Amino acid sequence: MDHNNNASNQNISNNKIEYKHNVPSEKGFVFKFVKKDNNFIHTFSEGSFLKKLGLSSSSFVGKPLSDFFSGDQLNAAFYCYETAWNGNIISFEGSTNGFSYLTTLTPITINSQVVEVIGTVFEITEFRKNALKIQELEKLSLIGELAAGVAHEIRNPLTSITGFAQLIEELSNDETINIYLEVMLTELNRINTIVNEFMFISKPKENMDTRDTDIKVLISHVIKFMSPQATLRGVRLSESISSNSTLIAHCDPNQIIQVLMNLVQNAIEATTDPAQEIVISLKNTNKNSLLIEVTDKGSGISKERLKRLFEPFYTTKEKGTGLGLMMCRRIIENHNGTIKINSQLGEGTTVRITLPKSFNHQKQD
Ligand SMILES: Nc1ncnc2c1ncn2[C@@H]1O[C@H](COP(=O)(O)OP(=O)(O)OP(=O)(O)O)[C@@H](O)[C@H]1O
Ligand SMILES: [Mg+2]
Repeated sequence: MDHNNNASNQNISNNKIEYKHNVPSEKGFVFKFVKKDNNFIHTFSEGSFLKKLGLSSSSFVGKPLSDFFSGDQLNAAFYCYETAWNGNIISFEGSTNGFSYLTTLTPITINSQVVEVIGTVFEITEFRKNALKIQELEKLSLIGELAAGVAHEIRNPLTSITGFAQLIEELSNDETINIYLEVMLTELNRINTIVNEFMFISKPKENMDTRDTDIKVLISHVIKFMSPQATLRGVRLSESISSNSTLIAHCDPNQIIQVLMNLVQNAIEATTDPAQEIVISLKNTNKNSLLIEVTDKGSGISKERLKRLFEPFYTTKEKGTGLGLMMCRRIIENHNGTIKINSQLGEGTTVRITLPKSFNHQKQD
């Protein structure tokens, strides 16, 4: 082994130390290059990410830039390498074989002369994917805004059509016309519900009217309000409060009432056996949050259907709009809570909601 070789071995092991300090394992690689005869030649490489890109040290070191890129990509890479060789730090993004990466080229200068350039390559595949997801979400929220705008525009003509239909119904003695009008009014009512729910779903979080709310009182209110409807179907509605102390959440009480009413409505609609009971329970789970459960012993939901419940317009009911659960989730998420559904086909369903306790009441058990 000659002296030069030793020196370059020494260099490589130094480079390894440098590499280990700078690039986390698996997530990147370090390389070096020099300019020779108007070509950029790689002189060193180290790091597992190189393998992921389908390269190895031996296929990289000693090879010119033109072995790795062609066409426009080669021109772009050549420009970046040239910029670094002229003494500037430069970063650029690329992607190969489905992996995205960010490369930074740093020139090493001795006596004002660039002697080599160190390149660090970081894998950013996940980051790029997440950025795409965020873009998708932004698109969705834009669609939501558009839908809310359209819904708002529909509401005004809808009000006059409904008004005139009611007027004609009052004035007309023709039974056939009255039957048609009744169908019209039922359908108009349905459009009205959809439009209102749609506008509500798209309503931004800032419109929430939040205050410290005793959830026990709120549940009693829902029981009182929904009991007549349950009784009509022969179903009993009851509450089960398993905490002695008052459980307070900082929430918009009207919105939480709306969520519980939707869930109880679903439970009533799923219960065909009048002997069964629907229970709203309140539990003190931990110091930060409380748990509300709505349990029925109704039809239950199959595994395939469970996945689709929160989709807009997903319904199995002839007169359902399929917006109820979506709206519930929207409200609960706006309150920084969670909503989950457990169900067994033929046995029943439990919807579990967690809500953060009010900050001022978190010490209560
Ligand atoms: N407690 C439940 N038991 C059985 N199935 C349920 C229950 N809750 C919801 N589902 C199923 O989930 C679907 C979606 O419910 P969601 O409340 O979103 O809409 P919907 O009740 O059909 O219509 P609406 O918009 O009028 O509420 C229902 O059509 C039903 O198939
Ligand atoms: Mg519903």
